[in-house]
Parts: sequence; C-alpha cells; structure tokens
Amino acid sequence: MKNIFDAPFLKEMESATANMYRLGWDERNGGNISYLLNEEDVGEYIYLEHIIRKIPIGFEAPELAGRILIVTGTGKYFKNVKSDPETNLGIIRIGKDGSTAELLWGWDDGGKFTSELPAHLMSHIARLSVNPENRIIMHCHPDYTLAMSQLHEIDEKSFTRDLWGQMTESIVVFPDGVGVLPWMVCGNNEIGVATANKMKDYRLVIWTLHGIYGAGRNMDETFGLIETVEKAAKQYILTYRLEKKNTITDENLAELAKAFNLNYRKDFLDLK
Ligand code: 13P
Ligand code: ZN
Repeated sequence: MKNIFDAPFLKEMESATANMYRLGWDERNGGNISYLLNEEDVGEYIYLEHIIRKIPIGFEAPELAGRILIVTGTGKYFKNVKSDPETNLGIIRIGKDGSTAELLWGWDDGGKFTSELPAHLMSHIARLSVNPENRIIMHCHPDYTLAMSQLHEIDEKSFTRDLWGQMTESIVVFPDGVGVLPWMVCGNNEIGVATANKMKDYRLVIWTLHGIYGAGRNMDETFGLIETVEKAAKQYILTYRLEKKNTITDENLAELAKAFNLNYRKDFLDLK
C-alpha cells in the first residue's frame, strides 16, 4: 500500500482548499468540494473492502452506486485541511442501495460529509449526463460574486451578459454562461434538485446571497471557472453605476466567439 498522504488526489484537495481560503472564498466552514475518483487510483492507497462506518445520505443516488469520492466534511474549515486532512476530509463510496455512504478513510473525529452533499451528488449526476468526464463539484462564497448577487436581477441572460461584458476573457472561459438560483434555504434536497437542474445547462450556478457552484473535469478547470466569474464580478462591483467610457458590445462578444470558435449561448446576446 502506498502512503495516502502522498496521493495526488489528496494533494489536489489540500491545495484547492488552501487557495480558496487564501482568496477569501471560504470563511469559517464555508464551501465544500467533492471529487469523483477512480477505484484503481484509490485502491493503491487504501483497502477498499474496509468500511469504517456507514452514513445515510438522506436521499437516493442510484446513478452513483459504487462510485468513490473524496469530500470535505461538514463544519470543517478549509484553512485546516492541509495541516489535518484526515479529520477534515473523507473518502466515501456510495453503497449499492444508492442511499448510504460507506466511509473508507477520513473524518477520524467522527465527522461526516458536507451538509451540501445532496447538491453535490445531484450535480455530479447532472453533469455526468452531459459530460462523462466531469469529476469535480466545488462550492464557495466569493465576495464579489455574492455582492453582485445582491445588486443584480435574477436572470440568467442578463447576469451572464453582464459578466461577459466585464472583461474580454469571460466569454472565452464560460461560453455556456451562468445559471442563477433565487435565495433558498441551503443544505437540503430541494436546493440540490434546483442546482442539479441548472447543471444540465451550466457548469456554473450562482446561489443568490449565498455563493457559487462550479463543475469541471478537474480541479484546475473548476477553480478557473469560479475564479473568472469572481474576477468579472469584481469589475462589475468596482464600476457599478459609474459612467463607462469603454464597453464590450454584443457584436464584440460575437467577434470573440468567432475568433475562439466558441460554442456559446447565442440567445444571451442581442445581435442586430
Ligand atoms: P458544510 O460545512 O456543511 O460543508 O457547509 C458549508 C456551506 O458552505 C454551506 O452552504
Ligand atoms: Zn455555502
């Protein structure tokens, strides 16, 4: 058996959570990440037949039965993951019934997975249905995205258009745009279903007055999506209600889409 503390997937979780904390996206226990792993990769580091505990997940996810994920724990602080991964993270396998998490490693203080597991698992299912390579669901509370969600109408077309218009790279990074949910109670199946519905069309979903969800094939892609939205939201806030001398027009965005061969949400632009 190799040393689990050298596992690349563990190191990725450590550096993602450390960076997210450093950027102010994850105060206290804010935020959560789940990462789908290959059985062969995990099997090099832990005994897959040794189940430490079984934890009910509170809903059914038969589509993920047998799948293994590394997940942040509920109430755990991102700032502490790197120094104590075994307490703050867990590796779970979704049981054959689809409604139990089998703990294979971690949460050595008796802890359990994030309270947002419904939104994570349902979003994994939704993203896998459109892209079988999706591996990561990431949630956090970045400042400017949160601020923008206070000021902006809850409308996917205009929200996306305003993010695209802040800086040239936005449409290149997220041509599929952002989904937006109104304020909702978090941590339950209802917000999980609503998020997963959006995830069929978007890799990014804004939770008004709460934060953002991102999905991607790997940690860098997912982190980069959220990072780019946050940067665009920052420009939105920095220039809010100021007179703008220069702007990116819908025609400019269409030119970018052509230059970068983007499969983008054409219905989000009003082209003449
Ligand atoms: P957890 O500590 O349960 O992961 O919750 C944090 C959070 O961001 C809730 O939305
Ligand atoms: Zn949250």
